[in-house]
Amino acid sequence: MSNWVRAHTNIALIKYWGKENENLIIPMNNSLSLTLDAFYTETNVTFDDDLKSDQLYLNGHMQDFNALIKVKTVLDLVRKKAGIKTKARVDSYNYVPTAAGLASSASGLAALAGSASRAAGLDLSSKDLSKLARRGSGSASRSIYGGFAEWQKGHSHETSFAVPVDAADWDIGMLFIVVNDKKKDISSREGMSRTVNTSPFYQGWLDTLDADLNTMKEAIKNQDVHKVGEIAERNALKMHATTLGAKPPFTYWSPDSIKAMDAVKQLRETGFSVHFTMDAGPNVKLICRQSELEDIKHHLLVDFKESQLISAKPGPGLHAISKPN
Ligand code: PMV
Repeated sequence: MSNWVRAHTNIALIKYWGKENENLIIPMNNSLSLTLDAFYTETNVTFDDDLKSDQLYLNGHMQDFNALIKVKTVLDLVRKKAGIKTKARVDSYNYVPTAAGLASSASGLAALAGSASRAAGLDLSSKDLSKLARRGSGSASRSIYGGFAEWQKGHSHETSFAVPVDAADWDIGMLFIVVNDKKKDISSREGMSRTVNTSPFYQGWLDTLDADLNTMKEAIKNQDVHKVGEIAERNALKMHATTLGAKPPFTYWSPDSIKAMDAVKQLRETGFSVHFTMDAGPNVKLICRQSELEDIKHHLLVDFKESQLISAKPGPGLHAISKPN
């Protein structure tokens, strides 16, 4: 019997940046994201008595021990809950357009949590799936849900999970400007920990988050795409500002990221309701009306190649599929 599931990636509009507990992945702050249709992971887990160790096949290729670390954390938790010791084979396919250079940890670890728990015979609630996915990668806790989701930080494994906020079945979309498809130098895990431990700006970041989260939820309720983008852009800039104060300092921006941000500003001056956000890498993600995606893309073709521009609409939550794509 197969246990194929699909989970879509999500992009945070209020960022998760810093852990209160590194082991349990309890964040310093609540975060809020939009799950997208364009990028997803499909995964099937099989527990097999004949296996001597866990195995991970990514896009058909067997992965080494390093790639298995996060996967093993989730598998061990599932085994503990199901009372089994059996090793597992994980088959996972990432449907992120080639060269997109976007992190697949959110969709990957959410899909793993979904498939591994089914394969072990566990029938977990969305809340329990979110907690399980969180232990693999924090942002994966939010990919259990479609539309907008909030990861409520909590203070323990039991109390830190995401909840759905809004189905996002209105005129909102995202456009990715891919400026670099290389693996990032500083992982989000290392970047956060360095910032929390050394940046004097980190407390300033934390101090403004409640206000950002509240106004963001209000803007989502009002389906106000301009306000959603405005809050998200400022939130992302504040997050990225903390990294400049770290020791040693670092930034995820490249010259092309700044070129993309300038292009967004110009589009805004032309009258589009468009803002940007960025994560632990140089790619820039635009927040705009879904109905204006193609128009905005057209304007961006002056500065960027068509292959660098990928449109995305709100996507669904974790779900079972009968067979892979
Ligand atoms: O879950 P991780 O370890 O990939 O961290 C994600 C961190 C950011 O993408 C920068 C922000 C977020 O909330 O997704």
